[in-house]
Amino acid sequence: MHSIRIDNGPEFHCEADDTLLRAGLRAGLGLPYECNAGSCGTCKVELVDGQVTSLRPEAPGLTDRDRAKNRVLACQAQPGTDCRIKVRLREENVPRHKPARFAATLTSFRDLTHDMREFTFTAKDSPGFLPGQYALFYLPGLEAPRTYSMSNIDDGSGTWQFIVRRVPGGTGTVTLFDRVPIGSQVTLDGPYGLAYLRPESPRDIVLIGGGSGLAPVLSLARGAMAEPRLDGRKIHVFYGARGVRDLCGNAELEALPGFGTRITFTPVLSEPRAGPVDTWQGATGFVHEIARDFVGERWAEFEYYFAGPPPMAKAVQQMLIEKRVPYPQVHFDSFY
Ligand SMILES: Cc1cc2nc3c(=O)[nH]c(=O)nc-3n(C[C@H](O)[C@H](O)[C@H](O)COP(=O)(O)OP(=O)(O)OC[C@H]3O[C@@H](n4cnc5c(N)ncnc54)[C@H](O)[C@@H]3O)c2cc1C
Ligand code: FES
Repeated sequence: MHSIRIDNGPEFHCEADDTLLRAGLRAGLGLPYECNAGSCGTCKVELVDGQVTSLRPEAPGLTDRDRAKNRVLACQAQPGTDCRIKVRLREENVPRHKPARFAATLTSFRDLTHDMREFTFTAKDSPGFLPGQYALFYLPGLEAPRTYSMSNIDDGSGTWQFIVRRVPGGTGTVTLFDRVPIGSQVTLDGPYGLAYLRPESPRDIVLIGGGSGLAPVLSLARGAMAEPRLDGRKIHVFYGARGVRDLCGNAELEALPGFGTRITFTPVLSEPRAGPVDTWQGATGFVHEIARDFVGERWAEFEYYFAGPPPMAKAVQQMLIEKRVPYPQVHFDSFY
């Protein structure tokens, strides 16, 4: 256990096998972060004193300039000594549910498409979570955890559901699909993530997901329907997939009470002619373009949440910047 002192700020403790970011969040501090995987660079802190080891020395989130300035990625930095760091805490990042590591048992799974699977885990003593958040998976044989967003909402029963797309040759997903049978225990760590539902917002909601970005989109839609403060708010879901065989989410959204009245669902195919089926009558193109046509000139009227592959997340983010949507109305996770 090491002591981590924030310059002009509080001190917290970090287990030898934990990272500065996660230990700080476990202590209830509002450290800056996004991906928790070393990719986005949002969690950079200056190491003023002490020694850390990076779990991912070549992480794309850190530049040579950062290294020269003694900056480290807090999400990858494991302390070897007591440390002093410089970072600006953010009130809005203070975790509503402090993240914890806990054992979860895989109780069932079901295939949603040829490569997307819903996994259901149950845990006895897990923390709560907010719609739209994610957890880290410590999978057998992997050096680093993988990140997956919950697709359900926290009902107090310790059920954690995820939708994972099998990545060909991907170490984490191949392990999860092929080497974690029902009944196995996996260590999860969470909840994390800042793209969670804002029930205090008076605006209707636009949800945009691509591929496995369906997971947080479903969680957010489910959370919005269960939230009395959002009563009467409309939820417009846009879901981007490649071809017909990649489509899913319709049945889960249709099962929600407001489907067709408060909830609209627009699936969008980027490659409608791919695969054996050539009968697609719905929207085609990139999902952000279809969302853009829907919003028209009403950019300030909505709260925006989006998740999916980095190119999709970047395109949506760029669009919202161009349309001058106020930053506090935008919440997203890029699936690095
Ligand atoms: C916030 C967030 C939420 C996500 N939610 C989902 C989801 O709900 N469903 C889904 O299918 N996917 C999700 N992903 C993507 C997922 O975490 C994996 O990147 C994806 O499943 C591919 O993993 P893989 O191990 O199969 O592929 P690999 O190619 O083996 O690994 C890819 C990713 O693993 C991470 N990684 C690899 N090596 C290291 C290392 N040494 N140290 C730390 N990290 C490393 C990196 O993020 C890398 O991009 C999410 C990603 C993020 C950041
Ligand atoms: S949160 Fe550390 S690099 Fe993204």
